[in-house]
Amino acid sequence: MRKPKYNILTLASILMLLPLLAACGGDNGTSTPSAGAATGSGGSTPVMANTAVMANTPVMASTAVMTGTAVMTGTSNSSLTGKLEMFSWWSTGGEAAGLKKLYQAYNVTYPNVNIVNSAVAGGAGQDAHAVLNNRLQNNNPPDAFQIHMGHELIDGPVAAGQVEDLSSLYQSEGWTKTFPQGVLDIVSSTDANGTKHYWSVPVNIHRANVLWYNKKVFSDNNLQPPATFADFFTAADALKAKGIAALALGDKDSFAAPHLMETVLLGTLGADGWKGLWTGTTKWDDPKVTEALNTFKKMLGYINSDHASLSWDQANSEVISGKAAMTIMGDWANADYIAKNFTNYGWVNAPGTKGIYDALSDTFALPKGAPDRDNAIAWLKLAGSQQGQDIFNPLKGSIPARTDAGKPAAGQPSYNDYLKSAMSDWTKDTIVPSVVHGAAAKPSWVKDYTDAVNAFVTKQDVTATQSQLVTAAATAMGK
Ligand code: GAL
Repeated sequence: MRKPKYNILTLASILMLLPLLAACGGDNGTSTPSAGAATGSGGSTPVMANTAVMANTPVMASTAVMTGTAVMTGTSNSSLTGKLEMFSWWSTGGEAAGLKKLYQAYNVTYPNVNIVNSAVAGGAGQDAHAVLNNRLQNNNPPDAFQIHMGHELIDGPVAAGQVEDLSSLYQSEGWTKTFPQGVLDIVSSTDANGTKHYWSVPVNIHRANVLWYNKKVFSDNNLQPPATFADFFTAADALKAKGIAALALGDKDSFAAPHLMETVLLGTLGADGWKGLWTGTTKWDDPKVTEALNTFKKMLGYINSDHASLSWDQANSEVISGKAAMTIMGDWANADYIAKNFTNYGWVNAPGTKGIYDALSDTFALPKGAPDRDNAIAWLKLAGSQQGQDIFNPLKGSIPARTDAGKPAAGQPSYNDYLKSAMSDWTKDTIVPSVVHGAAAKPSWVKDYTDAVNAFVTKQDVTATQSQLVTAAATAMGK
């Protein structure tokens, strides 16, 4: 077992530096596509269904993958053959669209590789994590897999010795110069000799603390998007009086309510208070945590009645239809709107979180014993390249992790207004780590937090839940 030198304190302090680092990386760097990035034009190979892994998961039909024109131009490379099994949880509209685009780009360059799309449905990887862990433990790895930067990666497969060290790839692709230092620091660990080892390749940066709203519902009811919790409840009362659910929640996905609570804690405690929850400087029995639980409880009085039977994206559809007015969700909701051709939406920071960027990153790792290692490395090179990030992110609803990306090629989907605003915020906001999406805490703590918040949705017992959260923190910190 490799013991990485990595802790939550390091993570929090590193993330504090991100805006500066992102700004330093700037938008003025030149584009440096990696050597192995997809640069070819040519045929494309059908994506195969992997029935063994994909039980009840939508597999992209080969026809869907093959439609659309070549995403990049150049020569195809027939040196790679066989398959590439890519494991993720991207199965819904915008998520699948971004992934499909990346698959297309891969197959443009490597037409003789069959991509096996092993996506296990379930927001935030709620079901994928267990399937992946099982496969890694049983020496049955896919070729590459999705994992969040931060503790999910470092305290998960890195600590268990299940992934390859990608440091030489970081050198050959020049990635130590093209990702912000704060991101580099939390996809890596430092050994006893002080040498840094890189473990996964970040393809994007997502923001968790966004309130999305239906503009028509708001204008029909003379409402302004809320900036504070007080604003939120004023709007919510007006909507409730009209029989409109103020807030759409889809907590059939087990991450959705804990995600909402994450934004309420952040909006109540502020950036430093939030970070302190995961480093020990903010106590979980703090009166502000009680206040956040009470605010969250009050919010639950304004959600859609069918919340327990909906996934996050189905809840988002209620905002689209106008059945609900708002939802608080990460910016993958932006991708969902794009995929569903809905444009009449607005966004503001979740209440109380103006100037704060609650960040997470989707990365790809290379498991030890990947059956198609060369094909997987070609995938990682594409995902880490400027071109790869700029074809993926406009559809995925995220901003590129690379500081020199953000400039899609002519004819490719462009970053929409939301994403342009996010790119600008990323360079100037206070960055904090998301807990529900793997950055802030180790997986066992995330699970304890998630379980406590999900139980709260039904029981709504503030005192009991707060003491559960106190215990979870004590357990995680070994007290
Ligand atoms: C997050 C992930 C996003 C998006 C979302 C909903 O954890 O980072 O890419 O997929 O879950 O599934």
